[in-house]
Amino acid sequence: MRIGIPREAWPGESLVAATAKTADQLVKLGYEVVVESDAGQAADQPDHVYEEAGITVVDRATAWSSDVVVKVNAPTDEEIGQMRRGATVISIMAPARNPELIDKFTDAGLTALAMDAVPRISRAQSMDVLSSMANVAGYRAVIEAANEFGRMFTGQVTAAGKTAPARVFVVGAGVAGLAAIGAASAMGAVVRAFDVRPEVAEQVESMGAEFVKVDMKSEVSSDGYAREMTAEQEAATALMYDEEARNADIVITTALIPGRPAPKLITAETIAAMRGGSVIVDMAAANGGNAALTVTGERTVTDNGVVILGYTDLAGRLAAQTSQLYGTNIVNLLKLLTPGKDGQLTLDFDDVVQRGITVTLDGESMWPPPPVQVSAAPAAAAPAAVAPAEPKKPANPMTKVYAAAGGAVLFGVLAMFMGDQLLQQLTVLMLSVFVGYYVISNVAHALHTPLMAETNAISGIILVGGILQVGSPNLLVTLLSVVAILVASINIFGGFLVTVRMLEMFRKD
Ligand SMILES: NC(=O)c1ccc[n+]([C@@H]2O[C@H](COP(=O)([O-])OP(=O)(O)OC[C@H]3O[C@@H](n4cnc5c(N)ncnc54)[C@H](O)[C@@H]3O)[C@@H](O)[C@H]2O)c1
Repeated sequence: MRIGIPREAWPGESLVAATAKTADQLVKLGYEVVVESDAGQAADQPDHVYEEAGITVVDRATAWSSDVVVKVNAPTDEEIGQMRRGATVISIMAPARNPELIDKFTDAGLTALAMDAVPRISRAQSMDVLSSMANVAGYRAVIEAANEFGRMFTGQVTAAGKTAPARVFVVGAGVAGLAAIGAASAMGAVVRAFDVRPEVAEQVESMGAEFVKVDMKSEVSSDGYAREMTAEQEAATALMYDEEARNADIVITTALIPGRPAPKLITAETIAAMRGGSVIVDMAAANGGNAALTVTGERTVTDNGVVILGYTDLAGRLAAQTSQLYGTNIVNLLKLLTPGKDGQLTLDFDDVVQRGITVTLDGESMWPPPPVQVSAAPAAAAPAAVAPAEPKKPANPMTKVYAAAGGAVLFGVLAMFMGDQLLQQLTVLMLSVFVGYYVISNVAHALHTPLMAETNAISGIILVGGILQVGSPNLLVTLLSVVAILVASINIFGGFLVTVRMLEMFRKD
């Protein structure tokens, strides 16, 4: 079969569905691949790069008359008109929001596969274009914000004075939101983020942001996407959005519920109360925007000096890299659809991924596909096979008092029979044990390494003491010295070995 990669018709589109590298990978699956002249120009893939990779560069009509047409955006009416009946088109096409497009595919007798309908299951991650694009776009949103913002992101203390770090608030912690959090934290900003799905709090924190908590009932999602909020949840979050946005220098909004217009979360009143010079990057602009004053595709500045970016081409602003990622998603899909690596595209509807992306099959509508149930939440624990353990009896608070009293009596008895010097040493030993126990048990795990360095220093003192005492005429003292030397040496040399191993982990070569 022949795969055609046409030039994208949308004005300003910089992406291409296959780079020279990914086109070559399609050839390895047994396909003949042709690319329309100038298709990759804006993505750093001029015609000669394809030709050098052995890919034929053709005119528009030849690319569109291929058995399979692979592109980025949904085909236009004119493009559909150039395809032959029975051919296959693969692209992003938002079938849920474009029922008229489905009718056009059926009229033209086409098979249409929607790259944006790949279910969000782990097996399909390598084909998930929405994730690839949102990941790049989230990063780029931060870069655009930094470009508009009149200050550095990172806080500094310099001889010329102190600068506070930028405060970034991210709404929605899906793929784009998490990428934005990662980029903003890496640039030194103080990042706070919110999402209606409570299960993402841990991911938000692991990317370096603080998860903003709102007292509301939210459910763990069953498919990795959010549900619409109840009126009660909306009221609880509205106040928080207002407060967080007013306090932030940069707000990046990514809230999305699939198949619905973007929820309006940042109101005109909130924007009016934000400081001049603040920036809002509304990543949901293509779906109507999360902020009240967003103009889709435009940069606007409000009367109070807040810059609102409604760009819808954030991923396309890193065209070469995004095209490479999109092309790789396509290769991974075609690997699945070409099990024989013989250049023959086949569809197996027992597979949820293949069924999920099929919008029409030979002119017959297949939309919508049956829902795919995947849980973004951890699986519920299996019921315990053994009988539940007896509930623990609460500790008797008097036990500690009895133990302390017993210890004091024992110490008193011993003190009556030992000399002054021994008594002094025993007192120091007991106090050291108490202080050591309470200090060490309260040290966080992350600080155990510096703690080890300190105990090494103490071991050094013990070692010197042991060496000085080992020649004593008293056999008991000699034995105790030998034990002290042995144990202190283990601690010191063990510490060195662990340190060497840890340093190895940071060496690049
Ligand atoms: N501007 C661009 O160039 C560009 C590029 C790629 C993606 N996008 C857009 O970015 C947005 C995010 O994409 P994604 O792939 O990360 O989607 P996603 O589904 O992975 O993430 C969206 C997140 O928003 C959350 N959410 C939904 N309603 C919310 C609410 N009321 N409050 C807080 N959080 C809420 C969801 O729980 C989810 O975690 C989408 O609107 C997408 O179209 C824009």
